[in-house]
Amino acid sequence: MRSEAEPALKHIAIIMDGNGRWARKRGLARIKGHTAAEKSIHDAVEVCGEAGIKYLTLYAFSTENWSRPRAEVNFIMKLLSRFIKGNIDELHRKNVRLRTTGRLYDIPDGPRGDLEKAIQRTSANTGLNLVLALSYGGRAEIRDAVTIIAEKVVSGELSPSDISEETISNNLYNPDIPDPDVIIRTSGEQRLSNFLLWQSAYSEFVFTPVLWPDFHAEELRNSLEEFRARKRRFGGLE
Ligand code: IPE
Ligand code: IPE
Ligand code: MG
Repeated sequence: MRSEAEPALKHIAIIMDGNGRWARKRGLARIKGHTAAEKSIHDAVEVCGEAGIKYLTLYAFSTENWSRPRAEVNFIMKLLSRFIKGNIDELHRKNVRLRTTGRLYDIPDGPRGDLEKAIQRTSANTGLNLVLALSYGGRAEIRDAVTIIAEKVVSGELSPSDISEETISNNLYNPDIPDPDVIIRTSGEQRLSNFLLWQSAYSEFVFTPVLWPDFHAEELRNSLEEFRARKRRFGGLE
């Protein structure tokens, strides 16, 4: 049962890491780990649904991931199409609204078209917002916001002295989405890898050694328990 003392939980963000190592441990090619990741995504959507979470952001592909071998990048892009086509009916039925964050224009036409169709189709849904971070980089997002703000200054719409933290938040990719309450990273790595740099100022971090393809419903519930035991102070006093 939820107690009064539990921190509010609107937005969960996950750095889905460890696919390659999961495959290697089984003597398989790295790409098999990406394929095996689908079940964990499915479970995350399920757990968020049952817990009434409003936003789930999944770090699927970073601006730095373009530096991987072309064959792996191509495979991930094909998998993205397959994931959308294979899951959109069910997501829609579950009232999930699919969204993205990142430089979507970097994504090849095929998967981008599938994504855009799915985003359009689910745009009026009122349940979980499932946000896929694709060609996403926290620094790229801040840089892009700075460009928009600078253009407003040049056009005279905004004065430099009026630029506030809110101005920056309002010019990020999805200004309506609240900052993540918790950022979970699988696979034992303890770093942000350029994820949600601005939005993570007061996020709680949960790190787990479990590799992403093994991170099923029970593992996510455990991570959320860990989050619920935290005391968030935001610089103030309890
Ligand atoms: C995460 O798994 C998926 C992406 C970054 C696309 P990795 O592919 O990074 O797996 P490891 O970290 O090499 O095990
Ligand atoms: C972070 O994982 C990006 C995603 C999970 C999409 P990486 O595997 O790319 O991060 P590093 O290279 O270990 O920092
Ligand atoms: Mg990795």
